[in-house]
Amino acid sequence: MIVLGVESSCDETGLALYDTERGLLSHALHSQVAMHEEYGGVVPELASRDHIRRALPLLAQVLERGKVAKSDIDAIAYTQGPGLAGALLVGSSVACSLALALNKPVLGVHHLEGHLLSPLLASDPPQFPFIALLVSGGHTQLMRVDGVGRYTLLGETLDDAAGEAFDKSAKLLGLGYPGGPAISRLAEFGDPAAYTLPRPMLHSKDFNFSFSGLKTAVLTQVKNHPANICEQDKANIARAFVDAIVDVLTAKCVSALRHTGLKRLVIAGGVGANAQLRASLNAAADKKKFRVYYPELEFCTDNGAMIAFAGALRLKANPSAAQHDYSFNV
Ligand code: KG4
Ligand code: ZN
Repeated sequence: MIVLGVESSCDETGLALYDTERGLLSHALHSQVAMHEEYGGVVPELASRDHIRRALPLLAQVLERGKVAKSDIDAIAYTQGPGLAGALLVGSSVACSLALALNKPVLGVHHLEGHLLSPLLASDPPQFPFIALLVSGGHTQLMRVDGVGRYTLLGETLDDAAGEAFDKSAKLLGLGYPGGPAISRLAEFGDPAAYTLPRPMLHSKDFNFSFSGLKTAVLTQVKNHPANICEQDKANIARAFVDAIVDVLTAKCVSALRHTGLKRLVIAGGVGANAQLRASLNAAADKKKFRVYYPELEFCTDNGAMIAFAGALRLKANPSAAQHDYSFNV
């Protein structure tokens, strides 16, 4: 069965073809980062318009790369939400119109399920059950995953998401958009002993997170400096921020593993690309004897492959999950 995946929830248009027999056949992505950069964040109206421009050329690319004819597609999976309404509408319209024209069924996929299952696309995928840390721009959740569709939420952020904390703190430091990679790069040059920022909820007994106070602590440090804050001070604050958020994320993962007795940890979502987080989790895995799995770097941030894949797994488990219902319901 060949599933076409369509992702358009935010600022990336991603399409992919996944074959339940042969695996990922092809994928193509257009990132709008350069377009939104001058505004310091995603402009929803521009995002929707760009998804419209990109979707069909990307479709042509994945069909060509995967050596697949349109008529070979068995079902179409698209990101149903959460995300920007206008952007989601473009992806769902493309998916549903194509499905209607080809007389194929469609399936709406939860964006976070796409992220959650993306590490299973790697060459050495984890077995169920595992603990998943989902860290994206909009969400931070710890979950127990017992199988496809069998997810138990253990904890989540009470305010900002981890990616949001990265982006907002980067903005406070005058770094570009998206802030995550920028603050992470700058932190490499920072002195770890220069500042210490709070580690919110580090010792709380639950699996929840809170990052808005950390962002405020960054703001306080920035305000404490003269208007022309020097590059080294910026790097020191960036380092303190990254060390604090990485410490909290690592500690909560370790505690969720201890609580459940599981030995496999899966990291998904854009912040999962963060080098400092990976180093810290790898060190904890060595010390505490668990194994940590990451998606391929290109599948950490939004992409069509994870949607095609999640759709295919859903359909494998329940072939009637896709329907000839082309109504708009993002
Ligand atoms: O999963 P994703 O592509 O989109 C959402 O579903 O939100 O995640 C985007 C988030 C942004 O906040 C971005 O700053 C963050 O992931 N991010 C990173 C890194 N790469 C992306 N954060 C820290 N370090 C990175 N290397
Ligand atoms: Zn995402």
